[in-house]
Amino acid sequence: KRKVTTHRLLEMKQRGEKISMLTAYDFSMAGVIDQAGIDVILVGDSASNVMAGNTTTLPITLEQMIYHGQSVMKAVKRALVVVDMPFGSYQGNPVEAVASAVRIMKETQADCVKLEGGTEVLESIKRILSAGIPIMGHLGLMPQSINKYGTYGVRAKDTDEAQRLIDDACALQDAGCCSLVLEKIPAELAKEVAEKLTIPVIGIGAGPYVDGQVLVMHDMLGINKGFSPRFLRKYANLFEDITRAVQAYVQDVKSVDFPSKDESY
Ligand code: KIV
Ligand code: NA
Repeated sequence: KRKVTTHRLLEMKQRGEKISMLTAYDFSMAGVIDQAGIDVILVGDSASNVMAGNTTTLPITLEQMIYHGQSVMKAVKRALVVVDMPFGSYQGNPVEAVASAVRIMKETQADCVKLEGGTEVLESIKRILSAGIPIMGHLGLMPQSINKYGTYGVRAKDTDEAQRLIDDACALQDAGCCSLVLEKIPAELAKEVAEKLTIPVIGIGAGPYVDGQVLVMHDMLGINKGFSPRFLRKYANLFEDITRAVQAYVQDVKSVDFPSKDESY
């Protein structure tokens, strides 16, 4: 199987073939989803929530993102691997931003970095790109800015914010970003952006008229029982499956049904 490249994603958009993307944070799960045929694996800073149990993505560090990136990279043979730049590692100034991106690329050997924001981080984006590091942009709901907005609600519902998002998307493309994630915005706005841009636009809660879809793996596998936003389709119910498996194991241990003679040496 040929390794997926940023150029290949562009070809997929041109061909009208939708791009599939999921998050992964560890070696074992990355190996499973890679062999299953996912196109892009995102080592998301959602690891802060999913792996570390924080209520926001803000606390995760550059070192922790690099650790997750290294673990994922050891397993992946085919998918393009994108690593999120964590909060605080690129907003300060372009020099710090390029240093953070270089550390991610050097220490994880990932294919691409992703960071949140448009015009406000454009200088950092340009510096990282001129270092030869591909960037996936991220607009719409930007979880690293939760303290500015106060909610995880749908973004760009009014025309002012929608126009700002379109302008930011164009600025990211013009700067040289290889693709763009749009999170939790109206489907019609996402459609307009995907049609306007030549780079692939990957949506989460952004409707069907984009070039690909991304979900947080643990959410789509139904591990997080209480999390059921409208945009989330659950492809498994691992919360129930794991609960049943663990209950059966506990029972078998207590009753000495496990291990059997065949399972003993
Ligand atoms: O961190 C993450 O999982 C993400 C996706 C939701 C796009 O950024
Ligand atoms: Na993220």
